[in-house]
Amino acid sequence: MLCLLAGTYEVNAKVQPELAGGKVRLVPLSDEHLAKSLEWVNDPYIMSTVLRVTPVTWEDQRRWYAAILSDPAKMVYAILRAGDGIHIGNTGLYHLDLTHRRAEFWIYLGDQDSRGTGAASETLTLMKALAFEHLGLTKLYLHVGLDNMPARCLYTRHGFKKEGVLRHHYIIDSKPVDIVVMSQLENEYDHESHTT
Ligand SMILES: CC(C)(COP(=O)(O)OP(=O)(O)OC[C@H]1O[C@@H](n2cnc3c(N)ncnc32)[C@H](O)[C@@H]1OP(=O)(O)O)[C@@H](O)C(=O)NCCC(=O)NCCS
Repeated sequence: MLCLLAGTYEVNAKVQPELAGGKVRLVPLSDEHLAKSLEWVNDPYIMSTVLRVTPVTWEDQRRWYAAILSDPAKMVYAILRAGDGIHIGNTGLYHLDLTHRRAEFWIYLGDQDSRGTGAASETLTLMKALAFEHLGLTKLYLHVGLDNMPARCLYTRHGFKKEGVLRHHYIIDSKPVDIVVMSQLENEYDHESHTT
């Protein structure tokens, strides 16, 4: 059972509803989540999969958090395990554009034990409901490394379609990396089941 917990939603005032499912609860990222997030973004596996090349310092992290708070085009959530509230990862929408009604989705599960448990899948289900049902977006898109099979499988299972490949778009560990652009349109999203 999925539900949006807060009643009202205003984009410009940065009021983000909490989102809850059976496995995860998504809460707006706050101060208390920064230390764990910093650890994760500097983890070599997360760094390479989210296509980051330089390590993040505490100052960078504070600047990123300040930007999230002040920028209405960014909505970032901490992913908490439903039972015990343990912080297991982060997700968000960037480039939220209410004129063109689109946003870029991203996610990582920093907690290794939470991968392969369905937590990412439910997070994506909740974020799609936020995008298509509550924000009224017509398009959700994302960028994923061509070789990042766990992420590509997840997105394909959720009905994201490949738009194309950005060839040699990043240099990670001295190697060129191709990026797949994927998207889902509002008319491809199943409002009833909340699954595709
Ligand atoms: C991407 C991520 C959130 C997915 O979460 P997850 O819990 O691992 O995802 P799931 O286990 O639900 O699904 C992964 C799918 O990939 C498959 N998979 C896992 N490892 C794989 C591999 N090495 N090769 C091929 N398929 C693989 C799984 O079988 C599963 O397939 P299914 O969808 O057909 O069932 C998580 O792996 C993660 O945080 N990765 C690091 C950050 C990242 O890559 N973020 C996305 C950037 S675009």
